[in-house]
Amino acid sequence: MSDLDVSIAADADALSVSAAEQFVELARAAVLARGRFTVALSGGSTPRRLYERLAAPPFQDRVDWTRVEVFWGDERGVPPDHPDSNFHMASEALLDRVRIPRQRIHRMRAETPDRAAAARDYQVEMARAFGVDETGRPPSFDLVLLGMGGDGHTASLFPGAEALREGRRWAVSVEAPQRPPPSRITLTVPVLNRAREIRVLVAGADKADTLRAVLHGPHEPERRPIQLVSPEDGRMVFLVDAAAASALGPAPRAVAGGAK
Ligand code: 6PG
Repeated sequence: MSDLDVSIAADADALSVSAAEQFVELARAAVLARGRFTVALSGGSTPRRLYERLAAPPFQDRVDWTRVEVFWGDERGVPPDHPDSNFHMASEALLDRVRIPRQRIHRMRAETPDRAAAARDYQVEMARAFGVDETGRPPSFDLVLLGMGGDGHTASLFPGAEALREGRRWAVSVEAPQRPPPSRITLTVPVLNRAREIRVLVAGADKADTLRAVLHGPHEPERRPIQLVSPEDGRMVFLVDAAAASALGPAPRAVAGGAK
């Protein structure tokens, strides 16, 4: 990964504006090219700001929500109305506030006791929505939104987890012992890396050292799983705020607040 893939915004607020601009543009281009926009959402506090932006003027009316097909990169093992649910967060911040048809919202049923089965079902649901064979190659999302934890995890791909080595399944059940709630479902690297566009949203000084290690350190994905994310044919951009970028050094950077 190189720092050319990094766009730095002044603060978390500017970061959410920049991310919203890119969401709007990518949605417009996808709808024009393929008639719809398929996006995988992330959990976390940084994406939440983006969702709130998208749900309010001027962004709300700049997306044809009727053509947006929503999935999740990961989900926590709690009911959909639980405050820790990524579905709940996205619903509250965005989905309940725009005209998106309910049948286009594909949540992960991570509250199901048999999470492995729920992960398999999600693969089937993705295949159906994308019109592809569930036993074939994973589909290409128009956009995958990701966050990054201070430990270098992304989606629910945690350091040392077996899920990091998954080469076939598109979604798996995982345990994340150090993070409540521990039981989750996550998309896997093979499907993430088929995305046309990936945006990783990172804000806050507490992420600065990890971001430096991820971008400039050795390739150690067992320790920093986000290093596994590298789209085959797509584009991946880290959208970060100045605090998260503070350890990156004086290397050339993209324009503050703007898209790369
Ligand atoms: C989750 C996430 C996770 C998140 C990062 C960053 O459900 O926990 O999808 O991967 O994006 O932990 O979260 P913050 O933006 O809150 O730091």
